[in-house]
Amino acid sequence: MTKRTWLGRAIGIVGMGALALGITACGPGGDGDGSAGGGAGGDDELVTVGFVAVGPEGAWREANEQNIQDTFSEDAGFELKFAPAANLDQASQIQAFSSFIDEGVDVILLSATAGAGWESSLQRAQEAEIPVILIDRGIEPDNTDLYVTRIAPDNLEVSSSVAEWALEEFPDGANYFVLEGPAGVSVVNERNEGWDAVMSEHPEFEKIGAQTANWSREEGRSVFETVLRANNNDIDLLFAQNDEMGLGAAQAVEEAGLVPGEDVKIATIDGTRAALEALADGQLTFVAEYNPMFGETALETVNTVLDGGTVDPYIIVPSETFDSPEAAEEALPDRQF
Ligand code: AHR
Repeated sequence: MTKRTWLGRAIGIVGMGALALGITACGPGGDGDGSAGGGAGGDDELVTVGFVAVGPEGAWREANEQNIQDTFSEDAGFELKFAPAANLDQASQIQAFSSFIDEGVDVILLSATAGAGWESSLQRAQEAEIPVILIDRGIEPDNTDLYVTRIAPDNLEVSSSVAEWALEEFPDGANYFVLEGPAGVSVVNERNEGWDAVMSEHPEFEKIGAQTANWSREEGRSVFETVLRANNNDIDLLFAQNDEMGLGAAQAVEEAGLVPGEDVKIATIDGTRAALEALADGQLTFVAEYNPMFGETALETVNTVLDGGTVDPYIIVPSETFDSPEAAEEALPDRQF
């Protein structure tokens, strides 16, 4: 994996060494040792960070965005301008992104509500020599020249780990349904890709169908209620692409007079406290963490980039899996989200 330098990228993209050196010379990230320092004008100013965020979307998002805001504190040398989307609307994000460029922030963090449609915004940020770092969500098509790096767990690996667990849990195969996040979101496509990469080799697993429940617990309940009814309750396995939808589906299983973990096994992604509690109680059977607590990694990355250092184009946040009530009970006391 080649490393990328904001300085090198600036030269490559802007093609003006002096301008790129200008970014480094007054690098607002500090004095070149990766430590937080003053803003663009010198050591006594704060580094301004424009965070184009998703906003209210469930426990995972709340944990991730709070961790970012807590980490980029004034004490750490930052002024973080938080701009959550209005009702998950991409247009409001594009507007906030543009405003941050006009304000001349030192760096933009972007968690995209939709994967497509970012090219012109990202090109404007490059022309303004403002580095963009993707938080969690990718862009589609993934043009890695349009941003400095993406910080996230590896969705392909996380969803493949759920599929590998399913192979072990159902050695003779199973029928299954998938509750997806919203269409057009990068992580949804990546999670389908990771799952399908494993399941495509296993015809003993029959896909009954897939439908979005928009990351929502209530929608997860109502969609899966309909799915159970349409299939005479004959669903062995549910892969829910986040905890909220899986928890809602577990409620639908119980409301159908079935036993989660016995009649229907539910596997989810995120690893929030509520999911681990449900795993401990047997309502969920497998939980793959998608670790949201990477504010420190983001801060270190921002400082490195603004100091002209090099970073990988995809900084992978480690995540673990939980496959039993005992594993959940062991993790719960120290759970940060
Ligand atoms: O992009 C990460 C996903 O967005 C999480 O898995 C989900 O809970 C959140 O809403």
